[in-house]
Amino acid sequence: MASLFAKATAPRAFGQASRLAMRQPFLRPQNASVSRRGLASHTEQPRLRLGSIAPNFQAQTTHGDLDFHKFIGDSWAVLFSHPADFTPVCTTELGAFAKLKDEFEKRNVKMIGLSANGLESHGKWIQDINEISKTNLQFPIIADAERKVAFLYDMVDQQDLDNIDEKGIAFTIRSVFVIDPSKKIRLTMMYPASTGRNTSEVLRVIDSLQTGDKKGVTTPIDWQVGDDVIVPPSVKTEDAKKKFGSVREVKPYLRYTTI
Ligand code: BEZ
Repeated sequence: MASLFAKATAPRAFGQASRLAMRQPFLRPQNASVSRRGLASHTEQPRLRLGSIAPNFQAQTTHGDLDFHKFIGDSWAVLFSHPADFTPVCTTELGAFAKLKDEFEKRNVKMIGLSANGLESHGKWIQDINEISKTNLQFPIIADAERKVAFLYDMVDQQDLDNIDEKGIAFTIRSVFVIDPSKKIRLTMMYPASTGRNTSEVLRVIDSLQTGDKKGVTTPIDWQVGDDVIVPPSVKTEDAKKKFGSVREVKPYLRYTTI
């Protein structure tokens, strides 16, 4: 299976390593050796900008081997990473995402997690997650013990390159990528290993992106479905009135409408 990774269509994500001075005893496993593996060099890393194509990869997952772009198909996808199996914060996060299966499905979004351990470990961990969160986790989790997908997606914190596991490889952080059906990256979020994410915010941003795509509007701070939206500066007020009915102008550059 390891050879599957050689087929990744994005540039190879492994290159020059950083010095891994172990400065953070909080996460430093005992007997960890300092390794020079891990940090992708600047030139080898694909762009992960909003609007760029999410790099494709093949990986082992708890649902079998998959090709990431084929997995996404005509859906949206949320790819989120975790530092390691059987860690407390990650366990709460996966339980929470699992419980929101219907919400993600309603929005035509496939979830896929990533954790830097092997399949056997993932399988046992899922049993724990289901027990603790009283859920039935049904999306795949990528087995990324070698951090290949993690480096491809830059899911490693520069300062946490010091945070290495027992094999001497940097821990992954908590990244979130929202990818649309054309495989474009539409949102990235990066959280440190110490901070659990907010599932409501992931859903809220998906609602905003999908609403914007369908209606040609933007959404203000803390927007939720049903709230007024913003007419973008590129749309004239008279055109917005024709399209949406009424427009409330607070300033010439800040115009709300209801959809
Ligand atoms: C966690 O709680 O998820 C965690 C703890 C230590 C290292 C990485 C993750």
